Amino acid sequence: MTIRTSRAVAAMALCATLGSGEALAQKVTYTDTQALRGSQEFAGACSKCHGGAATGGQGPALVGAKFDAAWRGKPAKQLFEFISGNMPYDDPGGLGKDTYVAIMAHILKLNGIPSGQGPLVVDPPGVIPAR
Ligand code: HEC
Repeated sequence: MTIRTSRAVAAMALCATLGSGEALAQKVTYTDTQALRGSQEFAGACSKCHGGAATGGQGPALVGAKFDAAWRGKPAKQLFEFISGNMPYDDPGGLGKDTYVAIMAHILKLNGIPSGQGPLVVDPPGVIPAR
């Protein structure tokens, strides 16, 4: 590779990184273990209103277009604070922090957001990626 092309490649890589603010923002992450635990907790605490597959019932759908419009592109922390502060609707804040973390991992997974190396935490950094 000549110096000239390697420079061009470096410039392109830089543009790809700086191209959108979203590319710079860290994506939220969780582990499969958390999501698995979350699916069990969800069944016990959330599914009676949101449906077993979170497609909605007495409460709104937590997947698909509804989720996209409400949460994609937003800080992960915002979703965590909403869930842990307001849900279950009939017992807001009634679950342990670890349980809320696991349930959120499950919801991310249901929406096709991939798991990663790092676990989801109580004060999650990053954003929920746009589609
Ligand atoms: C007793 C019924 C009920 C239970 C149980 C319940 N929810 Fe809800 N949930 C609702 C209702 C009703 C709303 C709509 C509230 C509103 O718009 O003010 C809602 C809204 C939400 C939203 C916001 C949806 C959106 O996109 O605007 C999320 C996220 C959510 N619930 C998650 C959960 C989770 C996670 C659990 C389990 C820990 C849970 N809910 C348990 C009834 C329930």
